Amino acid sequence: MAIVIHRMKKDEALESAYIACQSLIGKRYALVQESLSKRLIDAMEMKEILLVAKSEEILVGFAWIDPKGAFSSAPYLRLLAVEEKFRGLRVGSVLLDAFEESTQHIGRDYVLLVSDFNEQAIHFYEKHGYVKRGSLPDFAREGITELIMVKKRNKDVI
Ligand SMILES: CC(C)(COP(=O)(O)OP(=O)(O)OC[C@H]1O[C@@H](n2cnc3c(N)ncnc32)[C@H](O)[C@@H]1OP(=O)(O)O)[C@@H](O)C(=O)NCCC(=O)NCCS
Repeated sequence: MAIVIHRMKKDEALESAYIACQSLIGKRYALVQESLSKRLIDAMEMKEILLVAKSEEILVGFAWIDPKGAFSSAPYLRLLAVEEKFRGLRVGSVLLDAFEESTQHIGRDYVLLVSDFNEQAIHFYEKHGYVKRGSLPDFAREGITELIMVKKRNKDVI
């Protein structure tokens, strides 16, 4: 399947938010499509990086990237979601590669958080070289632990 990545346009935010809301995390976190859409647009205006993946003009997934969102110094993947019907077709992998490529100039290790119940996503990130480095109990929601996952870079930076 041919996958094209481009910067999210404002009129794609609502559709992207829908994909996240329909996912396991959307349900467990009770995400609301309209408010998430507004947050995506706000993030674009804050110069964060919003990418969409398209296959034959259909929006099949997106990534929300804060280039220095981890400790004001390391690339942070805030959210990654793929439309359910298109999972397992490498859309997530292409978006994850785009996260790393679009922030490689930052120089520090890649960071993300994943909920401890989200086993498929944890497996997905481990396959891509991310390692669990810590945990944040009750961080975003009472009763849910967020795992800190980090992918090391090859080069050292100061
Ligand atoms: C996690 C996620 C982004 C992966 O995207 P994807 O396009 O399905 O992943 P890819 O096709 O590139 O890679 C396949 C791998 O993803 C994982 N995966 C996770 N959910 C999957 C699903 N429903 N179907 C198939 N593979 C899935 C598997 O580890 C699979 O590897 P395997 O072939 O060894 O089983 C996607 O499943 C998703 O959007 N999940 C819901 C939202 C979410 O949990 N996001 C991550 C937290 S921020």
